[in-house]
Amino acid sequence: MSKSKKNKGFVSKKQTSTFDFSSLLTYCSQDEILKFKEGLKGKAVSSLILNPLIYTAKRLEEAFPDLKKDKDDPLLYRFVKEEGRMGKTLEHFAGGFYILDPSSGVISSYLTNLLPKDFVSLDLCAAPGGKTIAMDLRRPDGLYLANDIAFDRALEINKNAQRLALGNILTLSIDPVKLSLPSLFDLVILDAPCSGSGMIRKEPKMASDWSMDKVTRLLPIQENLLEKAYECTKKNGIIAYSTCSLSLEEDEDQVKAFIKRHPDIQVIPVEPREGMVLGKDGLGYHMIPGIYDGEGIYFVLLRKTQGDAYKFTSSKDARIYNDYLMSLDYKDNSYLVTRFYQDFANLPFIAPGMKVYDKSEHPKCEYDHSYCKVCDDIEKVELDRQSALQYVQGNEVKVDSSIADELVILTYQNMRLGLGKNIKGKVKNYLPKGLRANLY
Ligand SMILES: C[S@@+](CC[C@H](N)C(=O)[O-])C[C@H]1O[C@@H](n2cnc3c(N)ncnc32)[C@H](O)[C@@H]1O
Repeated sequence: MSKSKKNKGFVSKKQTSTFDFSSLLTYCSQDEILKFKEGLKGKAVSSLILNPLIYTAKRLEEAFPDLKKDKDDPLLYRFVKEEGRMGKTLEHFAGGFYILDPSSGVISSYLTNLLPKDFVSLDLCAAPGGKTIAMDLRRPDGLYLANDIAFDRALEINKNAQRLALGNILTLSIDPVKLSLPSLFDLVILDAPCSGSGMIRKEPKMASDWSMDKVTRLLPIQENLLEKAYECTKKNGIIAYSTCSLSLEEDEDQVKAFIKRHPDIQVIPVEPREGMVLGKDGLGYHMIPGIYDGEGIYFVLLRKTQGDAYKFTSSKDARIYNDYLMSLDYKDNSYLVTRFYQDFANLPFIAPGMKVYDKSEHPKCEYDHSYCKVCDDIEKVELDRQSALQYVQGNEVKVDSSIADELVILTYQNMRLGLGKNIKGKVKNYLPKGLRANLY
């Protein structure tokens, strides 16, 4: 379809929020369109994914009885977004869960049983980490490269991985089309930059920012990213393509053109859940506010059936740390990571795993905060809730005076909060200033 024909019916300048977004839902029935219009009047739904590595469903449900457990997904709980309160709890700080839009959490739940043991994943547009982290919480055996073109946003991925104690995420920031890697990956996640029309209920600004020009401008970027995803995926590997756009052009049309360019790409069928709308020509699914209990996301899972089945080269530089982690020297620091391959040696990582040392954080503590989340050679001291809240504010806390005068890891319900130095029952606070907070 020519560009001018595609734009028919749209104003080419920025639209105001009066634009009727239901006109984009050409793949929906009249009934679904009515539900969408009604749904836009309601509140955005948020959710969390439990981190089973450090928290339990029983404790979560006891601490937050208002959470609504998803009927298909054992790790997903919905809640009404009230001024980010769940994000300001001690349990969140301690890494007990990750907050994301429920529609975003769904994609990984479909991928969980489709990947081989110890698979390796690449997320091309990962920040702040939602898709990769949701996947990691379900499949901790995977190794995850999480990239985002925006450096500041990529730092957020690392911050989240650190909070959740995920020692198998290697973070980097590079324009994905400049990534030079062979067809290595079992999974390539491409959550592409898009016009954002699926998020208009959650972020009303997306409605006033939306225009057909924006859609058109993003199409070649999405196309190039799909080509990069193809290049990096190994034979029989999966490409998980998603957008938060309701527009056919960015979703099914983009996928259709991709399959035309690469006839070996096959759509992986998935069993739809309540409220999911089948995409045009059976290409993927839309989750749409008012129809699905979440915000707007389109996704499709694609299998690359031809090409190389490349094998990784193990790294001689990584040394055994414990049963789970390896120690790796990178730039002027050491990192703990579950696996590392020589094939990644030239990538510009921000953090290839959990950082061990940091002389700048606290003059009296040689370790980076990250280290306390995964190390196994520092004594742990359990705090009650009140003391834990005091600790995360940056205060000194009192502990049992029989504890040796040494560096300790403070925990709450066995979840690691951070480091401190015990001196005669008073713990000096080593939590980095940027992490200190008033929590509930
Ligand atoms: C939808 S967001 C990713 C959200 C993330 N996958 C998650 O689940 O938390 C899209 C990302 O694409 C990145 N991006 C923007 N323009 C880009 C471009 N031209 N090429 C590659 N990535 C881009 C943005 O920095 C942004 O983080």
